Amino acid sequence: MSRLEPIGVLGAGWVGLVTAACFAELGHEVCVRDIDEARIAALEAGGTGIYEPGLAELLERNRERLRFTLDVREAFAAARSVFVCVGTPPTHSGDADLSAVWRVLDELEPGSDGLTLVMKSTVPVGTGEKVRIELDSRGRADVGYVSNPEFLAEGTAVADFQRPDRVVIGSFGPGPGDAIATLYEGLGVPILRTDVATAEMIKYASNAFLATKISFINEIANVCEETGADVSVVARGMGLDPRIGPHFLRAGLGFGGSCFPKDVAALKQLAGNSGYHFQLLTAVIEVNELQKRRVVAKLAKHLGSLRGKTVTLLGLAFKPNTNDMREASSLVLASRLLAEGAHVRGWDPVALGEARELLQGVELHEDLLAALEGADAAVIVTEWDAVRAFPYHEAGRVMRSAVLIDGRNVLDPDEARAARFFYESVGRP
Ligand code: UGA
Repeated sequence: MSRLEPIGVLGAGWVGLVTAACFAELGHEVCVRDIDEARIAALEAGGTGIYEPGLAELLERNRERLRFTLDVREAFAAARSVFVCVGTPPTHSGDADLSAVWRVLDELEPGSDGLTLVMKSTVPVGTGEKVRIELDSRGRADVGYVSNPEFLAEGTAVADFQRPDRVVIGSFGPGPGDAIATLYEGLGVPILRTDVATAEMIKYASNAFLATKISFINEIANVCEETGADVSVVARGMGLDPRIGPHFLRAGLGFGGSCFPKDVAALKQLAGNSGYHFQLLTAVIEVNELQKRRVVAKLAKHLGSLRGKTVTLLGLAFKPNTNDMREASSLVLASRLLAEGAHVRGWDPVALGEARELLQGVELHEDLLAALEGADAAVIVTEWDAVRAFPYHEAGRVMRSAVLIDGRNVLDPDEARAARFFYESVGRP
């Protein structure tokens, strides 16, 4: 098969756009379909609608190989491999909402011969099996199905796609899996071939394990606070053991974003639905919830009652280098502080558009110092570069009281105290 085989992508969200741009960069013609008219119009006009470093440049560079459409027939017309990158948000019960996935089956054109549906969306284990049964019952045994979970992280998505640690391809038989594996050969990375259910589980287990690592180090941090140990050095000491590894041991306000909270809840739910009580994940979720709220007690220690006090949240996105605010710690923190009667301000270099919709009652600022003017305390929520280079001198001059809670352990405690700040971080003396 030629590496220039045309590809279809359904869904122009983070995963869909990065997939499309990176396959176009490898030389494929790619047709991207989304149901959102505004998003398609923006993409056609050269925008991305999301903030992801390197993505706009990649889309621009490969413009002649990329097509954006609202018409699903266009995406299916030329392509033999169609990547399903639609949203699978959590429902009220904690299960994944698969309606966008089922819609794809309804949209299949008759006679799209040799077609393979490649599931990149994160779907519960067993979904592929159900899709296969449904395809067969609709007389579409000719349509192949492959599970190809995505491991890219927002903020580094383009590099993660182009230089992944592994590519996982789950298929019911070798045929369709071979075809999809060929598409990735150009990346020169290990390709793990599995059955469909195993591929689906690798995705959930990976995210749940990483989330567990974060909740674990956060609990260690909380014990460090009681005992005088320094969690950042503890994490370094642990990480030198290759069986543990240095990654994802940064204590802080807990994990957020569109993936970890959703996937951990979905795996717990999936286990529960099949009769197994996944106790560990229950604790991982609870620790994560409580972690954000600990900031309120730290503020109260310095300020007393928070009623009428002004608290500035530095960083609103769930992590740096993205404007994504899904399940961001800032959302919980802002609500808690407002409930305590505080006046809440927020600053973020790229997420203010999103914040305007989500953070009702919070005064938003584009300028960091303006956000700090007259504030009684500042809380570092997202480790943006501008926050790492905290302007102690200027901040100390404009703030009413120099209380600084570092929720991401990005500043040097000695430096902060030398600048006469009342400084507290997470799990560091
Ligand atoms: C995560 C995974 O890292 C990706 O591999 C996966 O593909 C993706 O979910 C997904 O399922 O789509 P992402 O949510 O973009 O990617 O962000 P991460 O960089 O993993 O961070 C997640 C959260 O954990 C952030 O809130 C971050 O602040 C927090 N975190 C991360 C910590 O609190 N401590 C750490 O040591 C690392």
